[in-house]
Amino acid sequence: MKSVRLGIIGLGNMGLGHADNIISGKVSRCEITAVCDPAPEKIVRFPQAKGFARSAELIHSGVVDAVLIATPHFDHTVSGIDALQAGLHVLVEKPISVQKADCERLIAAWQDPKLVFAVMFQQRTDPVYRKIRELIQSGELGQIRRINWIITNWFRPEVYYKLGSWRASWAGEGGGVLLNQCPHNLDLFQWFFGMPKRVRGFCGLGRYHDIEVEDDVTAYFEYADGATAVFITSTGEAPGTNRLEIAAENGRLVFENDVLTFTKNETPMSEFSRTATKAFAAPATTESRFTFPNHGGQHVEMLQNFINAILDGRPLIAPAPEGIYSVELANAIVFSAAHNQTVELPLDAAAYEKFLQSKVATSRFKRGAKRSPGAIADDLAASYKR
Ligand SMILES: NC(=O)c1ccc[n+]([C@@H]2O[C@H](COP(=O)([O-])OP(=O)(O)OC[C@H]3O[C@@H](n4cnc5c(N)ncnc54)[C@H](O)[C@@H]3O)[C@@H](O)[C@H]2O)c1
Repeated sequence: MKSVRLGIIGLGNMGLGHADNIISGKVSRCEITAVCDPAPEKIVRFPQAKGFARSAELIHSGVVDAVLIATPHFDHTVSGIDALQAGLHVLVEKPISVQKADCERLIAAWQDPKLVFAVMFQQRTDPVYRKIRELIQSGELGQIRRINWIITNWFRPEVYYKLGSWRASWAGEGGGVLLNQCPHNLDLFQWFFGMPKRVRGFCGLGRYHDIEVEDDVTAYFEYADGATAVFITSTGEAPGTNRLEIAAENGRLVFENDVLTFTKNETPMSEFSRTATKAFAAPATTESRFTFPNHGGQHVEMLQNFINAILDGRPLIAPAPEGIYSVELANAIVFSAAHNQTVELPLDAAAYEKFLQSKVATSRFKRGAKRSPGAIADDLAASYKR
């Protein structure tokens, strides 16, 4: 195979954005040979490709080697399983599914290791996040003691939620800020630090907006090695913040306002504490500041990586099975908040599924309801933010 024949399922903000990147030549060795969307006016924008109203028709058409799934969240599982079972390579938008049990079903459908199965976590291409991960994984930071991430720069005004879409509802989207805006941040969280053992969540359901799902979250995590973390997010605060602070044995790493600052202890924290002879002393420090010229290749790099993995066997930046972790964290936070109790991980997927079904049963959103065309045109640009 010299070039990958790609089918795009879902031609909304994101599907069209990916298509533009391919058609404008930013992704090599890839051609769009099929598209799928229930809206015929979107299909006609792709005269060079075969158009389908239903994903199953595209998947079994024989005109694609791979699919990119960019539909509303619940459909990721259905189309993903169908495509993998049909022997297609799959790149699925985040989140891979809305709940842990669906993630498990989707991942279980991936039986053929020759098939490339990836998730669109493009923030993994950002040099600052790569640097943070490198500092952690290389041992430069030493053992991590405390993590604080305030990621509230996801502000959305009320009108965003008034547009009658599948968003911000249990039945349409499966959750709120944790499933729409924050999958990237939760993925980075687990990519940096791994999974905690215990989660306590506090969620404001419609705290700032007239919606039924969470738009304000504070979560507390405990790790097996005793490290603790606080994760705060909201779509209701302006101005918003993106501040990540990591306190570790060898110093403090802070990312804020596009600058990464490592304040390094000359003597590791615990060792200094044990050996210091003066009551109010603290370790001497040196400071390194890192700035980055850009945010990396983002969506284009992820698409090219997917194609290179198919054609050349290159390793994936974000293998789709890793997508279960951000979903599990999101689910655990919501479950903990709803039951006013700490949740042990691994999360009980069946218990969460039952809980979600009860929320879906009383959801305001009814499947099949129409939303006004172009209603959330701003969302694509906002999604590029970190
Ligand atoms: N990675 C990112 O930066 C990023 C940014 C925005 C959105 N997303 C993700 O992309 C996905 C789509 O979001 P969006 O903003 O494009 O939504 P959207 O509402 O703009 O578009 C969804 C499209 O899917 C179509 N659709 C619905 N059900 C379908 C089905 N069963 N088969 C085929 N098409 C179907 C709709 O008609 C619509 O055109 C979501 O998973 C979202 O979280 C990712």
